[in-house]
Amino acid sequence: MFGWIEHLVFTFVVAIVTSIYFRKGKDELLRMLVIVLKQLPGVEAMISSYLQREVSSFIQTTSLASKQSNKESLKIVIPKRGISNEELKDKINTMLKSETKNEEGRIFAYTYTLEDDHFEMQKDVFKTFEEKAGYSMEHDQVVSECFQAFMHENALNPMVYPSLRKMETEIVKMTGAMLNGDSDVVGFLTSGGTESNLMAVKAYRDRAKKLYPQITEPEIVAPITIHPTIDKAAHYFGLKAITPNTVLLAASAPQFCHGILDPIGQISQIALRKGLPFHVDACFGGFMVEKLGYEVPPFDFRNPGVTSMSADIHKYGYSAKGASVILYKNSEYRKYQIYTYSEWPGGGNIGAAWAAMQFLGEEGYMKKAQELMDTTKKLIEGITKIPGIKILGNPCMTAFAIGSNDPDVDIQVLADLMDKKGWKMERNIKPDSIHCSILPHHIPYGNKSLSGKGTAGVYGMVSTVPDKSIINDFLVEFFSEVYK
Ligand SMILES: Cc1ncc(COP(=O)(O)O)c(C=O)c1O
Repeated sequence: MFGWIEHLVFTFVVAIVTSIYFRKGKDELLRMLVIVLKQLPGVEAMISSYLQREVSSFIQTTSLASKQSNKESLKIVIPKRGISNEELKDKINTMLKSETKNEEGRIFAYTYTLEDDHFEMQKDVFKTFEEKAGYSMEHDQVVSECFQAFMHENALNPMVYPSLRKMETEIVKMTGAMLNGDSDVVGFLTSGGTESNLMAVKAYRDRAKKLYPQITEPEIVAPITIHPTIDKAAHYFGLKAITPNTVLLAASAPQFCHGILDPIGQISQIALRKGLPFHVDACFGGFMVEKLGYEVPPFDFRNPGVTSMSADIHKYGYSAKGASVILYKNSEYRKYQIYTYSEWPGGGNIGAAWAAMQFLGEEGYMKKAQELMDTTKKLIEGITKIPGIKILGNPCMTAFAIGSNDPDVDIQVLADLMDKKGWKMERNIKPDSIHCSILPHHIPYGNKSLSGKGTAGVYGMVSTVPDKSIINDFLVEFFSEVYK
């Protein structure tokens, strides 16, 4: 009986193969055969290990070949002590010497600007508008010089610009080590917190597509306080929130609006129990704060359920804008991100981020983290003493939100009044509050008395201001005007 069934199946397969061959050609037939073969148990793993071997031996023949042993490259951490300006310059000059110069005419892509007057003009304009990282004048100078040194190099092709690849790898390793990742942790540098979070969501969306093809409407579970970049990512990549279709848990360390740390330890346990990946958005937070001995619950890779983290170097890492790191627990998670990585904007950001970490060293970061934590603490203490307002929750890092504890005090109106006095206040809703990130330029304020006359005067005015519906109208007008 099986004889004729086998015969039938065989005839059917031959008919399909012949039809594909004649309709779509030999290449399409081969492609289909590979897809079918990959479904057989063990075949995909075999192909993947073959590809890995091929890639490794190819890399050894290129400028990417590592001069370090594997053991050495695992040891890359932010240096305890920042290196001197001279040493940094020496290292950068050595790296620059090893790059292919476009002036030599041997590159046919990537760099459009020559080292001429036009470039000098660009440097001048960049200098005029560049943001100060806020650490110290010397640090700003270092970051700026490194940005300019690599400004026109393009990380799109690591074989043409191996220094960018070296620095990026080191930045990722230094950040991974700072966040207590083990040697399996891998990642990429991105242009900012937004891109890091977008890439994490994209990676998990693609992972779910591959591993759970039955989920056609993948979802993320995250607290309402998660940064809007996660919503944006869900919107871009077609995901929604909560149910059996959940493919990702996400939380913040800390969340931006109120500076509060989400319960990472507990969510990590849920992630392990449910077998779900867990992304921690640490874009804003916590460079070194915990190492100083403050009571900050572990929020990084020490939690076994955490599978990825985003951390911004252009925030408390004191580099130029355009630098964040997305880290994955291991390359199994990262591989789902790789396609979109080719969007990388430029080399200046890599140079600046690498230089910032080398120059400040762990001691430099700790010193500034200490000053910022002291300032935050003093501001929180001062604000707590002012009648009518309060700090929301228990922020444990360098941001907090001020709310009202008096029905007569409309906190949004207070923000308006502060704006009138020349401050630039950040508003939260749900609940209404004022957001404050404490930054290096606030450090001098930590020594001023907050319960003094000025604030009391503002408080006095608050109760005289009418209903807060004005604020909505104001916002509509504001945005209409700004985006005219
Ligand atoms: C927690 C958090 N995630 C993500 C972002 C987005 O970062 P970026 O502005 O660098 O894109 C921010 C920005 O403040 C943030 O605080």
